[in-house]
Amino acid sequence: MEPDNDVDLMKLDTLIEEKYQNNPEALVMILQDVSAEYNYLPQDALRYVAEKLDIPLSKMYSVATFYTAFHLEPRGRHIVSQCVGTACHVRGAVKIKDRISNLLTVKAGETTGDMRYTFESVRCLGCCSLGPVVKVDEDVYSNVETDQLQGILEEYH
Ligand code: FES
Repeated sequence: MEPDNDVDLMKLDTLIEEKYQNNPEALVMILQDVSAEYNYLPQDALRYVAEKLDIPLSKMYSVATFYTAFHLEPRGRHIVSQCVGTACHVRGAVKIKDRISNLLTVKAGETTGDMRYTFESVRCLGCCSLGPVVKVDEDVYSNVETDQLQGILEEYH
């Protein structure tokens, strides 16, 4: 398989050596750094870290899939998280979800073709009395109405 062109192995090498002194116990922190850099865990990065730390690739994948914060597929530049928890559901989350899907032309769990947005459904964003709630990256939008969504999404390039 061809290497992912976007993975800078030199930079990864420096990170593992200088920041983590090739310590296998720092695996989760290394994966967090890789995830922060690429917005997901590229296969080539996982393979390289496994080799460098002398950890079986199968263990790498079990760690990478255990934590919900890690993703194995490329993600968009902006993460649109829409709450489908009970409190938001009774306040119209289904309409919000359908409208976002229509605007982005993707279903929940998918990324737009231009890699601008990844759309996700989440169980609860922790502000249930403010529903329906939508989060884009770190920005939380409460009491969202369907006709606000286009304007909200257009803010993110
Ligand atoms: S149920 Fe939507 S924020 Fe909690």
